[in-house]
Amino acid sequence: TKLTQDELKKMVGYKAVDDHVKSGMVVGLGTGSTAYFAVERVGQKLASGELKDIVAIPTSIRTKEQAESLNIPLVTLDTHSRLDVAIDGADLVDPALNLVKGGGGALFREKIVEASADKFIVIVDQSKIVDALGPAFPLPIECLPFCIEHTMRNLEALPAMQGAKAVLRRGSSANNKVDGEEIAISDNNCYLVDMHFDEPIKDPVALADQINKVVGTVEHGLFVGMTTSVIIAGEDGITVKDA
Ligand code: A5P
Repeated sequence: TKLTQDELKKMVGYKAVDDHVKSGMVVGLGTGSTAYFAVERVGQKLASGELKDIVAIPTSIRTKEQAESLNIPLVTLDTHSRLDVAIDGADLVDPALNLVKGGGGALFREKIVEASADKFIVIVDQSKIVDALGPAFPLPIECLPFCIEHTMRNLEALPAMQGAKAVLRRGSSANNKVDGEEIAISDNNCYLVDMHFDEPIKDPVALADQINKVVGTVEHGLFVGMTTSVIIAGEDGITVKDA
């Protein structure tokens, strides 16, 4: 029988915790429907006593709430600047294990936490694996609301952006009524701009660099050179790719 998407996500979520989380660790908890299962597993193993003395740093308000509901002790980067391991999903993974993240809007907190981890373990199902970042999923960029149209034009004009179109994310957060318009608001009270590519991104490093120099951006969803391992669930089982 064919496994559902959720069963695949659960397999990699549980495996990441079973393989990489040991008692006494500081653990980064990712955001999204795959990371959900890793958080669930940490909670289970703490409750059963199989894991002890774990503290965790969540990457979103959503994940913080899930962790609290499972009685996982939480800390922040202000008191714990290094993590032993962080586990999170991704929207796209390329052959160099570079990622696009931020489909769930949590990319800033994900990046600040995952950049501080000794190991960053990415958990995905096969559908996220691509030959090149770009067309399969838009690149999210978190931006300050101030003069957002100006910032969006500056992003579109970057040479490494290859003519990608900026779309302001609309939608469903509770606090998202801005002048009567439904604009999605991040956990950091910022906007999200999704860049739509027609072509594969040729140079993710140059693109990351150029986006970082645009005034008004907070952070972008390109995670370049950060991944330690990717755990991939497919119909034929689990495969692991190390950087
Ligand atoms: C959250 O902002 C994202 O970066 C998620 O990590 C990413 O969207 C993967 O989510 P799913 O596991 O739900 O696909």
